[in-house]
Amino acid sequence: MKTLLELITIEMKDAFKKAGYDEEFAKVTLSNRPDLCEYQCNGAMAAAKTYKKAPIMIANDVVGCLGENACFEMVEAVNPGFINLKINPSFVSEYLNKMSEDGKLGVEELEHPKTIIVDYGGPNVAKPLHVGHLRSAIIGESIKRILRFKGNKVVGDIHLGDWGYQMGLIITELEKRKPELPYFNENFEGEYPEEAPFTIGELEEIYPTASAYAKEHEDYREKALHATYLLQNGHRGFRAIWKHIMEVSVADLKKNYKNLNVEFDLWKGEADAQKYIPEMVEMLKEKGYAHYDDGALVVDVQEETDKKEVPPCMILKSDGAALYDTTDLATLVEREELYQPNEVIYVVDKRQELHFVQVFRCAKKTGIVKPETELQFLGFGTMNGKDGKPFKTREGGVMRLENLIREINEEMYKKIMDNRTVSEEEAKKTAQMVGLAAIKYGDLSNQASKDYVFDVDRFTSFEGNTGPYILYTIVRIKSILNKYQEENSLEGILIREASSVFEKALMLETAKFNDVIDAVYEETAPHKLCAYIYDLANAFNKFYHETKILSEEDETKKKGYLALLKLTKEVLENCIELLGFEAPERM
Ligand code: ARG
Repeated sequence: MKTLLELITIEMKDAFKKAGYDEEFAKVTLSNRPDLCEYQCNGAMAAAKTYKKAPIMIANDVVGCLGENACFEMVEAVNPGFINLKINPSFVSEYLNKMSEDGKLGVEELEHPKTIIVDYGGPNVAKPLHVGHLRSAIIGESIKRILRFKGNKVVGDIHLGDWGYQMGLIITELEKRKPELPYFNENFEGEYPEEAPFTIGELEEIYPTASAYAKEHEDYREKALHATYLLQNGHRGFRAIWKHIMEVSVADLKKNYKNLNVEFDLWKGEADAQKYIPEMVEMLKEKGYAHYDDGALVVDVQEETDKKEVPPCMILKSDGAALYDTTDLATLVEREELYQPNEVIYVVDKRQELHFVQVFRCAKKTGIVKPETELQFLGFGTMNGKDGKPFKTREGGVMRLENLIREINEEMYKKIMDNRTVSEEEAKKTAQMVGLAAIKYGDLSNQASKDYVFDVDRFTSFEGNTGPYILYTIVRIKSILNKYQEENSLEGILIREASSVFEKALMLETAKFNDVIDAVYEETAPHKLCAYIYDLANAFNKFYHETKILSEEDETKKKGYLALLKLTKEVLENCIELLGFEAPERM
């Protein structure tokens, strides 16, 4: 289905042509003076230069040609040359009825869908999930859903950090604590135990202990580095430990991401890239892309136009170990082989931008990806506390994701219990749903690349631009519809011409849905979807306060209201689904 803006633009183009002007000037936009009009066209201003005429004359000509166009209730040329438009109420209601019938609420899928890999989440195995990983999960999940909604084939990959130095550290620490384990016996030839020699709790303690110890003790550090190297090169016992770490960690991660309503299609990681590394290194050497620098194998990626130095891509360390650059390149080899993506999007902390510049350049230059494959780095900003510094616990430590979620849920639970009379059990469940909306909306409503302040009080408020406010609005609509449905059916009811400014405002807002989706999709900008649902929720609540809905005596009018409510609810629900959260039945 064409968007409302597209339909209006078609009419406008027609009028420009009829008036003897080029239709390329007929661009219609939302009004930036909603007090005067609903849509506007500034094309006469731009056309003035081409036609050497006063813009108002051109605007008048075009308005003359729009005449009695059925689309518009009002068309007006105003000085110095704007064309102001108000849409005909019947045009809007018809449009909305078509939207209601359409399976995707009027959103058209792309004619040429792409295969897109979204690389997001990126937790590091054996380290607890912390708030830094929250943003990647939240933003990535939403982007994945938006891309998919437009019809693309999208694969979300968690890309675990499971192949680096932290693994060597854990192995080394484990050997220090339990040297008798068979993994450390070079002569052991039997089967290793099935069960991991540690729990997730222990694992989460082992890593920070080892990491701190290594910083103070050079020999320990060396040992951990060597263990990393041995692991990467097939040491049997270390691989077995690695498998244990993975099992224990991944089970825990799955639980955490499930609570966040984040779902990955692939649970691959850096380790999966290992098998592509030797051949890739051979290719890089053979074709002359890589050279040795101070013992390390590197590929230069500096370009003439660079204002700053871009250091070479590091392929192998002097001890032969693979690095972050290496696994990301080899992962591209793997993705190319398995999925042939048109595009790969990385949702990662913006402080890693340089790494991705290096990797992308190297991948393009060496033919690891095709020239037309799009590699996109979507860097996000830091989540700060109210003090403007990276978010910490009250004690100043790194905030674990689980604790943050618990804190929010408890806050929500209190509010829900304060306000309402629902059972404790229901309140708990609802608190979880609303809490998640508070966190996700709080994050997504900011432009991803910007830092933002995580403000528990503000995010959990039922008023203002928050997730709970949006959910509250949906719940309010649901309850009206449910009440109506106790004795009537919503089947077959139609939206009617608006009978008040409030109703029309709500209709126009609802009708924007597919225009908004297109903009959100093209700009990969979930924050614009948040801004939209905030406007839509406000438009609904204004209408609600000004209108007797269920007590309206005119039956046709009442049915029209309910049909509009139903569609508004569907649009809101669709949007929050794309943002990655859901609304409860009651609140
Ligand atoms: N594990 C990394 C980190 O915590 C993020 C991974 C991002 N994705 C990637 N393909 N490098 O910093």
